[in-house]
Amino acid sequence: MFSHTLILLWATAAVQCTNILLSNDDGWAVAQIRAQNDALTAAGFSVVLSAPAENKSGTGSSTAMPTPLTEECEFNTCPVGSPAEGFNASDPRLNYVNAFPVDSFRFGLQTLSPQFFGGPPELVVAGPNVGTNLGTTVLISGTVGAACEAAKEGVPSIAFSGTSTSQSCPDASDFSFVFSRNLANSSATDVTTCGSDHLPTESSVVGSSGCHVSVTVLDANTKTDVSAVEQAAVLDRVSGLLACLP
Ligand SMILES: *[C@@H]1O[C@H](CO)[C@@H](O)[C@H](O)[C@H]1NC(C)=O
Ligand SMILES: *[C@@H]1O[C@H](CO)[C@@H](O)[C@H](O)[C@H]1NC(C)=O
Ligand SMILES: *[C@@H]1O[C@H](CO)[C@@H](O)[C@H](O)[C@H]1NC(C)=O
Repeated sequence: MFSHTLILLWATAAVQCTNILLSNDDGWAVAQIRAQNDALTAAGFSVVLSAPAENKSGTGSSTAMPTPLTEECEFNTCPVGSPAEGFNASDPRLNYVNAFPVDSFRFGLQTLSPQFFGGPPELVVAGPNVGTNLGTTVLISGTVGAACEAAKEGVPSIAFSGTSTSQSCPDASDFSFVFSRNLANSSATDVTTCGSDHLPTESSVVGSSGCHVSVTVLDANTKTDVSAVEQAAVLDRVSGLLACLP
């Protein structure tokens, strides 16, 4: 039912992960980010959600000073005139920021993380984005933009995206995770895995028959593929999760 992409943005650090800052670009109230929040919390992580008050899909790494609401928050979750940043009265870990995804991440890092974690988060999770962020879409995705900002500020991050397809993959355990690259490049040599030093592209992984999640490492500054050495550093850490395309 779903095909997914997962993009790891490389930042050195992260020994042990407990505290997760969660963001996206589709807005703080969409079902996808709430499901991510609930799943990570149920898995034992301490999660704080800080995401845009409105749908800011496609805004990349745009940034602005958050402002009071001149329209209702997404799905009428806060009234006109609400402050630039706010939280759910019955769960103060659910926060909106009335600006771009990058700004919601920064508010989470600078204001919420000290309050809830006593310091920076160990990991930033962005998404799942509503819709796949494959190939050059990473350049305009605000979900990827928030994750890139986190990595640039020294916090390891993962951007998730997904969409419905006609393939039947009803359960999370139906999926295999395949190491990939963002864009095809016949002159680039990748890390050697699955018997090749040319990784499949994200689009070919997600487009292949079966239930596959593409896993790509991006440079947070350029939002392009990293070198084989950097791919290898991530592959070493996640190889136990990965499979090869049939
Ligand atoms: C947000 O906007 C994008 C682009 O306009 C759209 O594709 C997406 O479905 C919207 N998300 C929600 C939750 O409405
Ligand atoms: C506020 O939090 C409660 C409890 O977690 C939840 O049921 C509700 O959907 C949340 N509402 C908004 C707008 O975040
Ligand atoms: C393709 O890979 C080569 C070798 O790593 C690199 O010099 C070139 O910039 C890449 N091309 C693109 C379009 O990324």
